[in-house]
Amino acid sequence: MPPAPRQILVTSALPYANGSIHLGHLVEYIQTDIWVRFQRLRGHQCIYVCADDAHGTPIMLRAQSEGITPEDLIARISEEHQADFAAFNVDFDNFHSTHSEENRQLAELIYTRLRDADFITTRTIRQAFDPEKQMFLPDRFIKGTCPRCKSPDQYGDNCEVCGSTYAPTDLIDPISVVSGATPIEKESEHYFFQLGKFKDMLLGWTQGEHMQPEIRHKLNEWFEAGLQDWDISRDAPYFGFEIPDAPGKYFYVWLDAPIGYMASFKQLCERTPSLDFDTFWQADSDTELYHFIGKDIAYFHTLFWPAMLYGAGFRMPSAVFCHGFLTVNGQKMSKSRGTFIMARTYLDHLEPEYLRYYFAAKLGSGIDDLDLNFDDFFNRVNSDLVGKVVNIASRCAGFINKKFNAQLSAQCTEPQLYADFVAKADTIADLYERREFGHAMREIMALADLANQFIDERKPWVHIKEAGRELEVQDTCSVGLNLFRVLIAYLKPVLPNLASDAEAFLNIEPLQWDSIAEPLRDHSIKKFKPLMTRVEKEKIDAMVDASSENLGTKQVTEGPLHDDPIATEIEFDDFAKVDLRVARIVKAEHVEGADKLLQLTLDIGGETRNVFAGIKSAYAPADLEGKFTVMVANLKPRKMRFGLSEGMVLAAGPGGKDLWILSPDAGAQPGMKIK
Ligand code: 2FM
Ligand code: ZN
Repeated sequence: MPPAPRQILVTSALPYANGSIHLGHLVEYIQTDIWVRFQRLRGHQCIYVCADDAHGTPIMLRAQSEGITPEDLIARISEEHQADFAAFNVDFDNFHSTHSEENRQLAELIYTRLRDADFITTRTIRQAFDPEKQMFLPDRFIKGTCPRCKSPDQYGDNCEVCGSTYAPTDLIDPISVVSGATPIEKESEHYFFQLGKFKDMLLGWTQGEHMQPEIRHKLNEWFEAGLQDWDISRDAPYFGFEIPDAPGKYFYVWLDAPIGYMASFKQLCERTPSLDFDTFWQADSDTELYHFIGKDIAYFHTLFWPAMLYGAGFRMPSAVFCHGFLTVNGQKMSKSRGTFIMARTYLDHLEPEYLRYYFAAKLGSGIDDLDLNFDDFFNRVNSDLVGKVVNIASRCAGFINKKFNAQLSAQCTEPQLYADFVAKADTIADLYERREFGHAMREIMALADLANQFIDERKPWVHIKEAGRELEVQDTCSVGLNLFRVLIAYLKPVLPNLASDAEAFLNIEPLQWDSIAEPLRDHSIKKFKPLMTRVEKEKIDAMVDASSENLGTKQVTEGPLHDDPIATEIEFDDFAKVDLRVARIVKAEHVEGADKLLQLTLDIGGETRNVFAGIKSAYAPADLEGKFTVMVANLKPRKMRFGLSEGMVLAAGPGGKDLWILSPDAGAQPGMKIK
């Protein structure tokens, strides 16, 4: 009898509801989705839930700066996030929000259980307070001069120049990033979760197979440093849930964020009668629970979260799986290099399955960073997927369709070769199970090499021309397509689109992991359509350019500057270095292959400059010629795919059609300095 199906609940970290999904995020969602799809193919019940992480000060301030409510902001971002995930085939069973009724109830329940079990304490703390905005300031919203190395413009918790960590009160000349005011210190009562009371439980839990060895090691360091009480409250104004019986006090965003996993599952249960919340979350549940997260948030998931669950009488995670960060071409993702690539920008240029395969090929079970190298991406996708896997089908399909009435042979003439392919199922399954996806892809590509070798040796393209050898060709190509089918079953968790197109072409039911035990015999297939096209270098370049296109124009956003929490002050001397000039637009042209750019020829008084500006959404070239604008004339030229950009045009407005760069000719002279 086959083993009973497992009941598995899986989560990925909840993305913040104030930013777009980028390729760094996608490492995690693709990794999780591959694992989930693998479990489902094996016949297990595997439920995958997620949500937007909607609370906290940055979201509150971002909504304020846009002049909308936080609810409107998070609704808009949720739609955007879900469209991006769907386009990458990330197959959630449910995607919810932490700002939901389910989450409020669960957060209150967990909190009151912890409070009643005496795991919550209160004490008064002193904190930085913005006297203008009348709000307490998180450390990241205070800037000043580093007390150690004296570098200006450092955040309130650590110095990016010398690496020292300190309290915001240690900063020299601190200012509130929100209003620009000098923060004062103010007292307030805070609520704390007493993590230390769980030390013995957590020490025991850590020794089990609940995390990777690297994380266990880190945990041991944290135990040695001592488990501190965790501040779980924030004062109004705050976008979040008010703490029961504590008016004006809100749960800190990280308190209710992981509870969002439960809330999303709860919402799913409410619309799925066969799913029972308690079966998965009760303390003695025999279901499995896995959290996929980035290594930077391990502390929350391996200490606070299990302790909260345990203290409130719920089950703990079966395991927490951490991954490393994404680098691009060996470096941190960077906006100026065009390597900070949004999911949507990628989708505008490239197929999602290229990235799914590339990430799978580079992912292991450890926490090392993963590098997206564009040359490697280009070579690997083209050589593995197009050159090896899809090639098997395209080499065999034509003969079967044209010469044999789309019919596969009545017998498999290479039973041993077929059996060798099927025999790899357990090894590959074990690699998927252990998240050794890169190793699994290597095993699968080794099989693809064998299949291609087999076809090379049998030379169907030669024998088809020799009288009396046609049936050999049918046999060879039938074996080839059967081997292709096995490979598709193995790749299906990674490449669901390719798999469903291949299933349609092979004229078969959706493959499961064990569908491949027997080859197809005497089976008719459908017409072959190319299953995947090669990655084109130009498209990768276009994606990088699009990721840096907005660098051609500097937009001044509406609202007070200080509402932008990333705005940093510069000295007057820095400003004085900027050479702002009136420029006459001599020529404006469309740029072949660029979505947002126009190419401008600018006259700055006896000298012309070529500038690529991201203003296509607002202007047609004909509207621009002969008009005046302001440009930064001494910006270092940037090489773009379309040519050299020799400056930057200034624009104001929210973007899209509302983007203003022009002044009428009111006596301005090209080249005039404007400060
Ligand atoms: O680090 C982050 O992006 C958080 N929004 C992750 C939250 S995961 C979970 F705890 F909700
Ligand atoms: Zn410093």
